[in-house]
Amino acid sequence: MEEQIQDLKRQRGAIILAHNYQIDEVQAIADFTGDSLELSRRAAQLSEEVVVFCGVHFMAETAAILAPEKTILIPDPNAGCPMADMVTAEQLRALKAKHPDAKVVCYVNSSAEVKAESDICCTSSNAIKVCESLGDVEIVFVPDRNLGAFVAEKLGKEFILYNGFCPTHERIRDVDVLAMKEKHPGVQLLAHPECNKPVRDLADQLLSTGQMCHYAKASEEKEFLIATELGINYRLRTENPGKKFHPVNPDRAVCPNMKKITVEKILWSLQDMKERVTVPADIATRAVGCIQRMLDI
Ligand code: 13P
Ligand code: SF4
Repeated sequence: MEEQIQDLKRQRGAIILAHNYQIDEVQAIADFTGDSLELSRRAAQLSEEVVVFCGVHFMAETAAILAPEKTILIPDPNAGCPMADMVTAEQLRALKAKHPDAKVVCYVNSSAEVKAESDICCTSSNAIKVCESLGDVEIVFVPDRNLGAFVAEKLGKEFILYNGFCPTHERIRDVDVLAMKEKHPGVQLLAHPECNKPVRDLADQLLSTGQMCHYAKASEEKEFLIATELGINYRLRTENPGKKFHPVNPDRAVCPNMKKITVEKILWSLQDMKERVTVPADIATRAVGCIQRMLDI
């Protein structure tokens, strides 16, 4: 399969992009693996004609908005993000009507329609900088209540938070962390800001998946506890052969949508040039500014 994929990639002029939560085999075959911001930046400067996007739907949609002239394929169109689905454009419009003077920051885990209604987008790696850039204004933050609360705490502000969350990170509990800390005393905990507050309060570092990879590589420490989706451990292990990583909750912290992409589906995607991800022009033209303002920061 790998050989066929490489041949088809050359024929189609394609690149394979993968998120850090993809299964090991997919990450191994990808040309570039990264977090949401790194993937958006890569999609904004494509020289390739075709992208096979191994991640969830909003990520491929963001690439389609940033590179409308390119062909963006997702190997499984059913790979969605339940958190992104928690807020609709209609719900956001209702919230905006209640807070007409506020600026809307939307987490990149949102639909193109929601981005089209927002002032600026953010990811977990730049959310603080993005919110800071807005100055002294009221902020409506959608959809992740955890990332929003984390940023508000950091900036010493009150945000109007939407009540969305990541069901996978919600399954990482403080009791799991405490049990792991007892088993591995003195080992640093790296957690994702999508984790709930009790877990965030136990973390030594709150980082996006890409930041976790860079932090673990640069650190003098040899062992880490990891509180995020399990797929991140592939990069942590392969990039740091001399270091140990202990996932806090290896049984439950698995995103079923990220796991829908397989090597077989990548092959079919390149063979059939499916499923193409497109965004209607009227929505894309409104959403692109929201994403571009983030990339400019
Ligand atoms: P990052 O890779 O940007 O940290 O995002 C995590 C995530 O949950 C993506 O769905
Ligand atoms: Fe969505 Fe959470 Fe899965 Fe990321 S890990 S795609 S936020 S459900």
